[in-house]
Amino acid sequence: MKTRKIGKLEVSAVGYGCMGLSHGYGNTTEKSDALRIIHQAYDLGCTFFDTAEVYGKGHNEEVVGEGLQGFRDNIVLASKFNIPKNDSYTPNSLLKEIRSHLEASLKRLRTDRIELYYQHRVIKGIPVEDVAWCMGELIKEGKILGWGQSQSTEQEIRRAHAVTPLSAVQSEYSLMERMFETDVIPACQELGIGFVPFSPLASGFLSGKGQTGNSYSGDDVRRVITRFDEENVAANQPLLDLLNNIAQQKQVTPAQISLAWMLKKKDFIVPIPGGRTLERMQENFGAADIDFSDEEFIAFEFALSGIQIHGNRTDEDVAKLKSLEVANT
Ligand SMILES: NC(=O)c1ccc[n+]([C@@H]2O[C@H](COP(=O)([O-])OP(=O)(O)OC[C@H]3O[C@@H](n4cnc5c(N)ncnc54)[C@H](OP(=O)(O)O)[C@@H]3O)[C@@H](O)[C@H]2O)c1
Repeated sequence: MKTRKIGKLEVSAVGYGCMGLSHGYGNTTEKSDALRIIHQAYDLGCTFFDTAEVYGKGHNEEVVGEGLQGFRDNIVLASKFNIPKNDSYTPNSLLKEIRSHLEASLKRLRTDRIELYYQHRVIKGIPVEDVAWCMGELIKEGKILGWGQSQSTEQEIRRAHAVTPLSAVQSEYSLMERMFETDVIPACQELGIGFVPFSPLASGFLSGKGQTGNSYSGDDVRRVITRFDEENVAANQPLLDLLNNIAQQKQVTPAQISLAWMLKKKDFIVPIPGGRTLERMQENFGAADIDFSDEEFIAFEFALSGIQIHGNRTDEDVAKLKSLEVANT
């Protein structure tokens, strides 16, 4: 697969989001299948794997750590930490807290370093400068090679970057969620920071193979994020029609057009779609080979500008899943 640079890290143009193997899409993948899928992703040319301590409460890091054995040194591994809100952190106690999360992740991941370590969410009351200082200390120790933020604002990125330069910002970005285009993506461009879109297929919606939210079960986010509400699925049909038309013209698929669009947009954008079958991974990674001419791209953007998007995915909605799951048990 073609490669791209995010900060100083070289990665495949499309990475693999491992979350769905443990969390967020209804069922946990059998371990033997998950290990096979990780190997297949690597065999297809993927050299960028994304996980987090919170996915399946450590399960995802464990399975990813095991799956990567054998080619660990050939790939860029990204993980994320969440620290509890606490108004009395000093820089040193914050470092101690983050270090304890990192050590636990390294153990689960069966490795001695993480190439890209993200703060999963910026927390109000914990200065981004203090977190950035901690990350600088961990970089000096060689335990992480670079760091990033997720869903952060332009100002949070600038303030953190001034203390310890960020390698990447990972935030939601797709044809259905473009809120970071106005400020965050231009700031990343200016500062030389990679931008890693999560949910680049809008949780599968953009593949055109999705269903309405009420057809999903378990810990599937599509039960609670509003773009999968019945009326929004119907209202978003014009976007799928446009994608289908262009996909047919170019003899590719709507998912591939969705990923090729963001790859064309900026050369420091590296999406990390999920997908748990060989066919889906072939489809998603294949987007790296699709050429969007400048004329096609401009015409596509123009057509998009006439389409309204209905529903989205917010942290508040995702949090509702917990009460639904409890109600089901
Ligand atoms: N930083 C954050 O806060 C944050 C939040 C969410 C996710 N993430 C990261 O971003 C990664 C990607 O997010 P995501 O999993 O929501 O991305 P996504 O690829 O937009 O959505 C995954 C969903 O789409 C389906 N899918 C993927 N490719 C498909 C294809 N070609 N055809 C049909 N369906 C397809 C998957 O199905 P199956 O899995 O059933 O095959 C799954 O249901 C995660 O794995 C995680 O590492 C980060």
